[in-house]
Amino acid sequence: MTPRLDGHTVVITGAAGGQGACEAELLAKLGAQVIAVDVTTAEPQTELHPNIRFSVLDVTCEEDWARLRAQLSAVLKHEPLRALINNAGITHRARLGEIERADWDRVLGVNLTGPMLGIQALAPLMGEGSSIINVGSAAGLTAHYPVAYTASKWGLRGLTHVAATEYGPRGIRVNIVHPGFIETTMTANAPSAMRAAQLALTPMERMGESEHVAQTVAFLVSDAAGYISGAEIPVDGAFTSSAGVKYMSDRIRQG
Ligand code: NAI
Repeated sequence: MTPRLDGHTVVITGAAGGQGACEAELLAKLGAQVIAVDVTTAEPQTELHPNIRFSVLDVTCEEDWARLRAQLSAVLKHEPLRALINNAGITHRARLGEIERADWDRVLGVNLTGPMLGIQALAPLMGEGSSIINVGSAAGLTAHYPVAYTASKWGLRGLTHVAATEYGPRGIRVNIVHPGFIETTMTANAPSAMRAAQLALTPMERMGESEHVAQTVAFLVSDAAGYISGAEIPVDGAFTSSAGVKYMSDRIRQG
């Protein structure tokens, strides 16, 4: 069972939908005070848990981060910010030969520069027991064809390890989770062949759900993960662990 997070203040980016909304809901249920931020100004589609406070923030905007930092400083007083979950992300499924500079910059901006700005802004509010969780991707462990997305997630792994090294002496843990294919708005328009191939190459032979990632995030925020830092945790049914060898194994089994 995931430990309670009563009284902990956490920030989750990209929390208006998909995995971020699921993480916000779970952490709120576990007792955390959740500052859910997203670039979208659309009203949340479901009723929010009373522990969730929603506000608009673009992760690529330094002024937005500075504003949030000032608001949090006033609210937290001398309590540390317990967690920053860098979940916001976008994809753009162009291959290496076709990617345009503007799309490359946009994807790197949200997926890599955004978490860096968030860490810069909010790490000063953290202390012993705090943690940062970056949401990577199975793409960040493989050579997935959407080049900007894949490169951004590989970069996020580097940022994670630098931050874990930098903030370890202050008792701040930094980890990254790597979801496999999860049905959200991001994957709704994925090519059907991509969905089928992902399933065929996943040893657990089923897709993941936002709840699987949220439970992992909740564990990493909690004291139960008190000595876990600099870790990369795939939440992908062994997709990346098997590295495509499932295909060979299945063929050999079939004879
Ligand atoms: P989603 O598209 O449902 O949610 C992403 C959220 O990020 C949206 O609410 C969007 O408005 C927000 N966002 C986009 N740009 C933003 C910005 N500049 N500032 C603040 N918020 C912004 O996608 P999903 O699946 O929930 O993705 C969450 C994370 O999981 C992303 O980092 C994604 O790369 C990662 N991921 C998703 C996988 C999947 O299969 N769905 C697989 C592996 C990783």
